[in-house]
Amino acid sequence: MAEESNGKNGGGQKDAPAAGQNGSGNGVGLLSRVRTKVAVGVKEDLQTLKADMPAKVKEQVEIVKDPTKTQIYTSIFRHKHDDTPRNRALGVLSNVFLHLHPAKINRDAVRYSYTWGMGGITFYLFIVLTFTGVLLMYYYHPTKVQAFRDVLYLEHDVPFGKILRNMHRWAAHLMVIAVWLHMYRVFLTGSYKKPREFNWNVGVILLVLTLLLSFTGYLLPDDQLGFWAVTVGTNMARATPLLGHEGPFGHQLGMTPYNDIRFGLLGGSIVDANALLRSYIWHCIGIPIVASIFMIVHFWRVRKDGGISGPAPVMLSSEVKEPKK
Ligand code: HEM
Repeated sequence: MAEESNGKNGGGQKDAPAAGQNGSGNGVGLLSRVRTKVAVGVKEDLQTLKADMPAKVKEQVEIVKDPTKTQIYTSIFRHKHDDTPRNRALGVLSNVFLHLHPAKINRDAVRYSYTWGMGGITFYLFIVLTFTGVLLMYYYHPTKVQAFRDVLYLEHDVPFGKILRNMHRWAAHLMVIAVWLHMYRVFLTGSYKKPREFNWNVGVILLVLTLLLSFTGYLLPDDQLGFWAVTVGTNMARATPLLGHEGPFGHQLGMTPYNDIRFGLLGGSIVDANALLRSYIWHCIGIPIVASIFMIVHFWRVRKDGGISGPAPVMLSSEVKEPKK
């Protein structure tokens, strides 16, 4: 029956009013009123669009011509970019990364011939070491059974393992060389003098931490070279004043081979599994964290001490303005 009635009415839109006529007059009125309203609304919208179009197109063309005037641009960059000293300074100050640098610097103080770039290179090598070191940690276990095997595995089987290990080794050697050269240049340029005495001392701590990083890394491959280097190195700790059992006043303070500073460093009285684990933790966690904190202080102090030292600022002849007559 349902099929029959559908067939009769045809089911199309045309038949809807007819169906309405049969039963609901109100429905027809409402539908036609809505239709008229929609038609009028669409017509009005089209007219408004037509009227506004030229202005809107013009606006878009202006944006394409000069995007620096848009709201989105001015919300990000709050100053102009015309090449004036003020805008250049604002460019540095209002950038989250660049604002770590001074807005203005003495051109001669940052010449490579003056700084040798060695402080920056030391820091760069530290970043390389952190990155490659974290990757090495994915393959290395600090245990007597595994350590040397992991190194062999890295050298021969891990894809790019050899280059990864060697990047870490070479960057470590270079960092030690770079930090010495940096200190040498600071000394040669007299930059340790007032007002930079404090930063020189921070630097000395950084030097010691760099050497300790190098030393603790030495034991990690657990090869003969590292084992004997650490044996010799930690034997020196026996003679530490007060804290070593063979050092001045050590005996009087009750130091023995089983409670002195060497024992603390090795986690025992011989270079063995505990020493390997302790080296690993100092090398990968302890010293890098302490060194990072001191580096932050070091860089902050370079700025607070008036930027990198250097000859008095000079002007190029092209910058000297003719006096007004
Ligand atoms: C991890 C080690 C170190 C890092 C990453 C580091 C980094 C830097 C950087 C980037 C600068 C800016 C100037 C430049 O590059 O020459 C600087 C300046 C300075 N550093 Fe270091 N440094 C380190 C170790 C040392 C050491 C060992 C000393 C001295 C014992 C030292 C003393 C100074 C002083 C006094 C300045 C100011 C120099 C000036 O104003 O001309 N730093 N350091």
